[in-house]
Amino acid sequence: MIWEELRGELDALQLASLKRIRRTLELPCGPQARADGQSLISFCSNDYLGLANDPGLVEAACAGARAWGVGSGASHLVSGHLLPHAQLEQKLAEFTGFARALLFSTGYMANLGIVPALVGRGDAVFADRLNHASLIDAVQLSRSDSQRYAHGDLAALERLLAASTARRKLILTDAVFSMDGDLAPLPGLLELAERFDAWLVVDDAHGFGVLGRQGRGSLDHYRLPLVPRLVYMGTLGKAAGAAGAFGAGDATVIEWLEQRARTYVFTTAASPVIACALAASLDLIAAGDARRDHLRQLIAQLRDGLAGTRWRLLPSSTAIQPVIVGENHEVLRVAGELYRRGLWVPAIRPPTVPRGSARLRVSLSAAHSAAQVAELVDALRELA
Ligand SMILES: Cc1ncc(COP(=O)(O)O)c(C=O)c1O
Repeated sequence: MIWEELRGELDALQLASLKRIRRTLELPCGPQARADGQSLISFCSNDYLGLANDPGLVEAACAGARAWGVGSGASHLVSGHLLPHAQLEQKLAEFTGFARALLFSTGYMANLGIVPALVGRGDAVFADRLNHASLIDAVQLSRSDSQRYAHGDLAALERLLAASTARRKLILTDAVFSMDGDLAPLPGLLELAERFDAWLVVDDAHGFGVLGRQGRGSLDHYRLPLVPRLVYMGTLGKAAGAAGAFGAGDATVIEWLEQRARTYVFTTAASPVIACALAASLDLIAAGDARRDHLRQLIAQLRDGLAGTRWRLLPSSTAIQPVIVGENHEVLRVAGELYRRGLWVPAIRPPTVPRGSARLRVSLSAAHSAAQVAELVDALRELA
């Protein structure tokens, strides 16, 4: 029977140490977690500024629900675009410095909407090899020719661009790579985009709120000029602590996305409650230098603490700190041992990362304390 094949495939995943386990959390998102009755310090979430359970956001969400109800009732272009959505878009545009911003329900949907709206059959997308799955899927959906360049390799990208005869070109990259934590060479990418008349679409899921002045993101970190060929995607479920995403750019580009991004047009607008919480979140992000300073200190503490162990730390200066262990079974063993000690760090394996580079992906948050990071460092040093 057709469905019986699945059992065999699931068993094969289990055998290859590739089966994932979903845990149900019994506390809100934060460094202190509880799952199956066990207390844990979590180093798993992307809640980099510790805003997911912030009282100010909770209050804004409650007030938002009282004022606007819970549902938007329709897609944005029908009747689901409520005042809180409009105000949030305006605020996001002002914060990032772009002419306009457009809300999407998730980062995944934003990417699936933006790329196919800009390129299609006969066009070419030039994508970093380590791009996030949502960007890979977005290229497939666009039906354009997919050309992948070695991670961060500007010379390789230049060769591909020079050889391309595609009608339209689009360079596509994570700003902060989600499994490596390093930054894309955005100034070089923009220079190439200018030289070869290409779009540059930057997914700043892990930089928005964390990098740049007041947390304005990776483009601000590099002080890049916000030219019309630059399309910015920021997610709102990570540092911003809620859910959703936005595309930002030149007014014409955003008007085009509003008309043509299918994941914007053909879906119910996100709850106005989320938009109200996010408006409060943006204020906290802008005023969040103390949180970002604390986060930077924790990053330095972790890196200093793990220097000289047999596991390789990737060259990341962001909240994503991967510790390369290598084999799938070994990373599972280490993550399991940490878990028994009450330290929860995800083990990331292929296909999410290349074969042989299974890793512990330590995510730090401004909500962690130095003592919590010290506990993780001590345990890792002992296990290494
Ligand atoms: C680089 C990157 N882009 C996009 C996404 C998707 O964003 P969302 O979780 O809002 O769908 C993620 C992670 O989830 C990501 O790491």
